[in-house]
Amino acid sequence: MTEIAEPLDPVAAVVHPDPYPYYARLRRERPLYLDSGLGLWVAATHETVEAALRHPALRVRPPAELVPRALIGTAAGEVFARLVRMNDGDFHVRHKPAVEQAARRFSLADVAHAAATAALDLAARVDANALLTTLPVQAMARLLRVPAGLLDATTRWVEAFVQGIAPQASPEAIARANEAAIQLMAQGESQGLGAVQSANRIAMMQQALDATAGLVGNTVRLLRDRPQLVASPENWRAIVAEVARWDAPVQNTRRFAAADLSLGGQEIAQGQGVLVLLASANRDQALNTNPDVFDPARIERRSMSFGAGPHGCPGDAIAIEIAAAGLEALHAARPLDELFGPCTGFRPLANARIPVFAN
Ligand code: HEM
Repeated sequence: MTEIAEPLDPVAAVVHPDPYPYYARLRRERPLYLDSGLGLWVAATHETVEAALRHPALRVRPPAELVPRALIGTAAGEVFARLVRMNDGDFHVRHKPAVEQAARRFSLADVAHAAATAALDLAARVDANALLTTLPVQAMARLLRVPAGLLDATTRWVEAFVQGIAPQASPEAIARANEAAIQLMAQGESQGLGAVQSANRIAMMQQALDATAGLVGNTVRLLRDRPQLVASPENWRAIVAEVARWDAPVQNTRRFAAADLSLGGQEIAQGQGVLVLLASANRDQALNTNPDVFDPARIERRSMSFGAGPHGCPGDAIAIEIAAAGLEALHAARPLDELFGPCTGFRPLANARIPVFAN
């Protein structure tokens, strides 16, 4: 068998077929180090990841650029500025509880119903790769009471918004994100929501998009190798929860130092960035026993896949339910192998791990 070369750096690891031996080496040799190629500190162990996510001076945005420069003065920039995901401090403390409450109001039965309905509708009319991203967005959109006739347009707007706020987005992508932001804000406002609530309503669909697409895709990829795992309906939730830990859909997140600080025995200077390797922390022996073993029946599973600390994900249970119920419905209609085909690589992204399938 030919050896596959290690990824060049922790960002390239996101799209590597098996980045886990590389992460293990980082944990052993360089738990927290300055990667000169990336110009970022890299936290690889559970201890350093947890410490980075909880450090009060490590912020979700560079303090000198709270909103990306290219978005300032645009409709997309106004949404960005109101996202709890992109804010720290007083704004975050004031608005996060409402976002958590908004996520809690969906019962898992409602989520499962929305996901199964979206999955079966979409599988009949989009290809396997489009299905990965449209399934979670349309499941969320259904929960958020988007009218049936607007589900496809809403998905396009959410995709345009995500592409336009990404680093290095082209002026055309930003223009499409602005149009999308106007339409999506109008949806929230027509439901009686204020500007902050409307922006964070968009976030629920936006956060569902790449991250949950990765969770669905990584589960499909795993089941190609281990088809014997799918036996009973309750297995789906356990399998998906273990995929979320074992092959994290969001492999890393970033933090930026608002002041000089010490972390894991290293001195980090104000303005420097930290790449926080969530996927590596999940495979740390300090977090889970036998972390490299894929075990859906794992007792006391511990995972950093949904973050930790003040910015921890309020949508973890929703994401697992969307993936499990969506895949269960798809599998009942047609074997997943046939529907998706073999995995041919990963989307070229710097933090979400989303497989590409042949079909
Ligand atoms: C598999 C799917 C998902 C994964 C892996 C995931 C992962 C994450 C992670 C790692 C963070 C923290 C980012 C950081 O600290 O830098 C986060 C934040 C967030 N997630 Fe999720 N997420 C998923 C799905 C969802 C869904 C479905 C929703 C909506 C219901 C959601 C809503 C949010 C929000 C609003 C935040 C920001 C929280 C804050 O900054 O306080 N996520 N997510």
